[in-house]
Amino acid sequence: MAVSDQAKERLCPAVSQYGPANVRDLEPGKKMKWCTCGLSKTQPWCDGAHKGTGFKSLKWIVPEKPQSVYSICMCKHTQNPPFCDATHTNLPAAVEQTQTSCPGRSDHHMRACPKLCTKCGWVPDF
Ligand code: FES
Repeated sequence: MAVSDQAKERLCPAVSQYGPANVRDLEPGKKMKWCTCGLSKTQPWCDGAHKGTGFKSLKWIVPEKPQSVYSICMCKHTQNPPFCDATHTNLPAAVEQTQTSCPGRSDHHMRACPKLCTKCGWVPDF
């Protein structure tokens, strides 16, 4: 596979949680970085854990119009980031299927995927 083809390949994130985080008291105008890889320990925001995975955080500015709560996606599969769009509802079976049929599955426990298998979202248990 050519490098340009690999770059176009969609990376599969880890699921941090099958449901949103309801985040309150965000300061209007504040710059946030939404975690796209699912590995951050400061969910739903980025802590830099994506380093080396090919993922990048998504920059988002809290709207100036005050809102008391934001429903922020934690499954990382939303089509409207960083907001939950209910994609998580049907996700568990799809994720299990993707991980079961992952072409890199045989390498999962051989440290070929030290943090995250970006083909299926598999994360090693440490
Ligand atoms: S938590 Fe990701 S779409 Fe709802």
